[in-house]
Amino acid sequence: MKKRLVSRILATAMAGVMAFSLPVMAEEATEDTAAEETTEANPELADKKVGVCIYQFADNFMTLFRTELENYLVEKGFSKDNIVIQDGANDQATQSNQIDAFIADGVDVLIINPVNSSSAATITDKVVDAGIPLVYINREPDASEEQRWADNDWDVTYVGCDARQSGTMQGELIADLGLDKIDMNGNGKVDYIMIEGDPENVDAQYRTEFSVKALEDAGLEVNCLDDQIGNWDQATAQQLVANSLSQNGDDIEVVFCNNDAMALGALQAIQAAGRTVNEDIYLVGVDALSEALEDVMAGTMTGTVFNDHFSQSHSAADAAINYLTGAGNEHYIGCDYVKVTGDNAQEILDMVK
Ligand code: BGC
Repeated sequence: MKKRLVSRILATAMAGVMAFSLPVMAEEATEDTAAEETTEANPELADKKVGVCIYQFADNFMTLFRTELENYLVEKGFSKDNIVIQDGANDQATQSNQIDAFIADGVDVLIINPVNSSSAATITDKVVDAGIPLVYINREPDASEEQRWADNDWDVTYVGCDARQSGTMQGELIADLGLDKIDMNGNGKVDYIMIEGDPENVDAQYRTEFSVKALEDAGLEVNCLDDQIGNWDQATAQQLVANSLSQNGDDIEVVFCNNDAMALGALQAIQAAGRTVNEDIYLVGVDALSEALEDVMAGTMTGTVFNDHFSQSHSAADAAINYLTGAGNEHYIGCDYVKVTGDNAQEILDMVK
């Protein structure tokens, strides 16, 4: 039911904001919609074993993702007992052992959120050798790795959103305020700091690059005062932003965070420094965590971007099912982000809660 609401919100959002929209995304959105229409549980899935590897349970967004993934797999006909979800504890060696154990156990399909995307080739090789179909989620392997799946016609795919879109939306959230409001120190530039996620992760790389690019594309001059690695983590980001605020003081006009967990940490630091979001500083994140949505509504966060864990987890489960039923999949399955402001935060909150 929530998923249907997502599609409606997405349709509204796409109509309004999608200067960025690429033809390939429209195609992928259609595929996703088609996948969502099959709601019947399939009795043939009841005895199929699914192994799921999550890079780290202690990640707010991946917690939403895996909870929804498990629920949806059960809804589709898998038995809860046959779904095993492992915590990689942010350690590739730990996760590789978990994958080996899943292979030894003879799982029918694997869904993997790699700790390091750069380990994908090694992971793919051993999973393909074992004859197990593989669905990567959330951390996209690089283009040459994806090319191997197509070249060899392997049952391997990636499900995720294009982080360039979320970065662009973050930049637009700021650019839409207009230079007069942003440029509080009057130097004619947008003075910002950037708090990045795990630098190995393409989501972090693209959000960092495209948020700034959107400002420049809007004709704004930018000035980066600080760029730090917060590794997607709230407490780390709080510390980094506190340091940056004490070094750069009132010159910071905008705080970009690659995700909401870090934006929540940034907000704690901003408030501790006696600054006020939307009055003397602007703050944006990505994910649309409930807490961040509450902040957007209260005006203590300028905006965020909904990272649709419903669509991504459902598409990942559907892709696993398509391998099991022999229907097969494309090697890339996408999904769209939604820009969130005070205008639609309540609507998104009603859906994610
Ligand atoms: C999310 C982050 C999360 C990361 C994990 C990103 O897409 O925005 O919140 O920590 O995925 O890989």
